[in-house]
Amino acid sequence: MARKLQTRLTHIAGKRLSATVNPPLERGSTLLMPDINALYKATPSYGRMGHTVHRELETGLCQLEQAGHARLTPNGLSACALALASFVEAGDHVLIADNIYGPTRRFCTRRLHKMGVRTSFFRYDIGADIESLVEERTRLIYLESPGSLTFDICDTPAIVSVAEKAGLISILDNTWGCGIAFQPLALGVDVSVQALTKYIVGHADALGGAVLSRTPAHAHQINQTAEDWGLSLGPDEAYLALRGLRTLPTRYRVHEAAGLKLAHWLQDHPAIDRVLHPALPEHREHALWLRDFKGSNGLFGLVPKPMNETQKQTFFSSLTLFGFGFSWGGFESLLIPADPKTVRSPDHWMSQAPQDLWRIHVGLEDVEDLICDLDQAFMRAGL
Ligand SMILES: Cc1ncc(COP(=O)(O)O)c(C=O)c1O
Repeated sequence: MARKLQTRLTHIAGKRLSATVNPPLERGSTLLMPDINALYKATPSYGRMGHTVHRELETGLCQLEQAGHARLTPNGLSACALALASFVEAGDHVLIADNIYGPTRRFCTRRLHKMGVRTSFFRYDIGADIESLVEERTRLIYLESPGSLTFDICDTPAIVSVAEKAGLISILDNTWGCGIAFQPLALGVDVSVQALTKYIVGHADALGGAVLSRTPAHAHQINQTAEDWGLSLGPDEAYLALRGLRTLPTRYRVHEAAGLKLAHWLQDHPAIDRVLHPALPEHREHALWLRDFKGSNGLFGLVPKPMNETQKQTFFSSLTLFGFGFSWGGFESLLIPADPKTVRSPDHWMSQAPQDLWRIHVGLEDVEDLICDLDQAFMRAGL
């Protein structure tokens, strides 16, 4: 009988014969060879290619995402950039969903543009109509689902079938679903990227990224591009990501349950206009989420009802358990105001954009304590 994911992640390396249950943490640029003849033949032959801990992390990530190949990068943004740059050259055109992570969008408009690659942004809800945007030199389609800040879900299978027919590479930023709630490769997406920094590391103490692919041909292009750019992940970060991976399914479910409880509570709160959480039946693409996803987590959006600046300041300064800081996926709860206007095409979603948009990350604190904290902060602000 096939073993369950949690068991496979616990036993990535099989039965270990060394004294510790974790792999050795080898910090090294130089790898000494047994004799002079091995110098130019051995792999790995240099620290950039990684050590035992990197190989185990790659194996675990492949299990998580049902991938054939994993390439590790120093952080999530470099994984997104690597995936995009691996499949294009000057003169090419790429189709990018309008709701992606802001710095990845900037990579397209600034770096790819300088490399002679043209970008067109499309509405996340385009579905099969994306076919009308495919040009002769279009090479790839890039998605993120749910999208950053607004948590909208795209019709991945519909877009993938257009990509397959047109011979385009499909790439999806799967940091939110991270192989637990969503497995894009199983739906036919060619390349999945993840910021390991978030739920996989899980403790807000390291950055990392991974590009996961299905076919050896795609892996070859990704590997060559990573080699050319000299991208590698430090051993300490790889160790922390591997450690996080062992407990990921367990932690993820706790974030999910707490996130849902808080989302329902917030939905009923008079200060909140809308909760942007795909697992809520009121979410615009809830049916797509039900069809394609296996769960959710602690990261979602909130549209508060209009409030004045004093109320807003009082609310935020009265919170005691929510930190104000970027990133997510760690053990601690966070709350930030966000402005999608800075990272969306004005003619897309922004025509109906709310004035205020907050992003909440529900950590591993007891959810009743989090509710009490929000409740007292809303009360102090008179909301
Ligand atoms: C969806 C998504 N992708 C990629 C990244 C980039 O990850 P990193 O911060 O490790 O560069 C982030 C970071 O917030 C993210 O939210």
